[in-house]
Amino acid sequence: MELGAIQEFIDGRHNELEGWFFSPDQLAFFELCALQERLQISGDLCEVGVFKGKSLVLLSLLKRETERLLGFDLFDENHLEATQQSLLAFNSEKNVELYKGLTSDISLDILDETIKNPLRFLHIDAGHEYHEVLEQLAIFTPYLDDHAIIAMDDYQDREFPGIEAAVLDFAEQDRPRRFVPFFAGGNKMFLCNASTSALFQKSLLNATNLKDKCRLTRVRDFNILIMRSKLPVSSEDILAQLEATTFPRRNSADLSLNEQSALFSQLTFGSGSKS
Ligand SMILES: C[S@@+](CC[C@H](N)C(=O)[O-])C[C@H]1O[C@@H](n2cnc3c(N)ncnc32)[C@H](O)[C@@H]1O
Repeated sequence: MELGAIQEFIDGRHNELEGWFFSPDQLAFFELCALQERLQISGDLCEVGVFKGKSLVLLSLLKRETERLLGFDLFDENHLEATQQSLLAFNSEKNVELYKGLTSDISLDILDETIKNPLRFLHIDAGHEYHEVLEQLAIFTPYLDDHAIIAMDDYQDREFPGIEAAVLDFAEQDRPRRFVPFFAGGNKMFLCNASTSALFQKSLLNATNLKDKCRLTRVRDFNILIMRSKLPVSSEDILAQLEATTFPRRNSADLSLNEQSALFSQLTFGSGSKS
């Protein structure tokens, strides 16, 4: 991780690059890669949907010395050259590999040869329709390390309701390993293995940029930490909520989804009605 260059990128140098990658998500990428470093989770990084390299450049700075970063895109027009220029401008082209073409046209053999190591971070920002998102998840998630994080672009955007639907449907299909939403950034939702979400959330609560600025919400049978919430709760209280919903574990296994959500609401808001 190039801390100085990352700070410069987030503080303003990102404006030098054209694309769709905004400050709250830049901070979220940083916090999540810092979390993986604290927990000694390593692996390669991958972005599907590069355009001209705005988010790819930050990933290249977040990458560690020995890790690789793979970028997949159609690279229409001059976008491949523009991406290479973006990387050069930040002096961070080393160990970054770009692949041009429709992801659905890449054979499994080629993918296996290309993605040689388990991925610790996967950013999906290509086609935004339901079938496209489901397809990207199906193609790339088999290459994830069990402690990996997936960043899903525009999960909360009203223009693209297919993204959330595809993610939640995929979470049901991809069992027993199951990637579920656990951290809401700006325009992006971050997913991790359901069994590691509480560990990740507890670690994020103490990050300087996030402490006492988040909120926890329950969806189905998983918790999502909302970064920089409009209704922030102290990190100490969130920790207590997390402990109460993840221990003892048999609670969540024995209860229906409705019962789990009701239990969480009681723990969070008390047993009376909220009004
Ligand atoms: C929203 S842009 C990516 C923005 C970029 N991450 C940034 O930081 O600005 C979406 C990109 O996905 C690419 N794309 C869409 N569908 C694709 C597919 N099936 N295979 C490969 N690339 C695809 C497009 O070429 C486009 O460059």
